[in-house]
Amino acid sequence: MSVLNIIRMGHPTLRTPASEVAKDDIVSTSMNTLIEDMVETLEDAGGIGLAAPQINLPIRLAIIQVPGGPSRYGDIDSAPLTVFFNPRITVLDPASAGYWEGCLSVPGLRGYVQRPQHVRVDYLTRDAEEATLELTGFLATVVQHEFDHLDGRLYVDHISDMSLLMFEDEWQRYHQDS
Ligand code: NI
Repeated sequence: MSVLNIIRMGHPTLRTPASEVAKDDIVSTSMNTLIEDMVETLEDAGGIGLAAPQINLPIRLAIIQVPGGPSRYGDIDSAPLTVFFNPRITVLDPASAGYWEGCLSVPGLRGYVQRPQHVRVDYLTRDAEEATLELTGFLATVVQHEFDHLDGRLYVDHISDMSLLMFEDEWQRYHQDS
C-alpha cells in the first residue's frame, strides 16, 4: 500500500467533472489496490473523506470513514469505511444546517457551509452491488462535500458569507466554539 499525493485547489483536475466507473473496472484488482491506497492516504492525512479527483484521478469514486465522538467537527456521528462508486444524491428534506468544513485539497482553511441535512445516496459498492444509504446531519454534509468533488466543485463554492472563510488557526482561536 502507499500514501498518494493529494492535489490542491488550483489543480485543474479538481474542477473537472469525473467519469462514471464501469462495473468490470470496479471489481478489478487494480481498483482494489487503489481503494486500499486511498484509505491509507485518508488515514495518513487525518481526514474523514477522500474523492478520487483529489488524487488526480477523475473517476466517480469516493470514500468516507468517520471515527465519530468528540472531534474538530464537534461531537459527531461515526461511519465505518464506506466506498461509493457512481453515487447519486437525492435530497429528502431541503432543511439546511451549517458546519465548518475543511478539505484536504484546501489545506489550512475552514469555511462555514449550509447544506440539506437529510439525503438518500444510491451508489455501487466496491463489489459493484447496488446500494442505498439514508443519511442525516453531519454525515449528510460529508457525502455532499465528497460527491461535489466528482462534479468539479469545492466547498468554498458554497460559502455564502465570505467572512466565514478563514485559516484553521484563527478558526480554532476565535470561532470553534461559536
Ligand atoms: Ni474535500
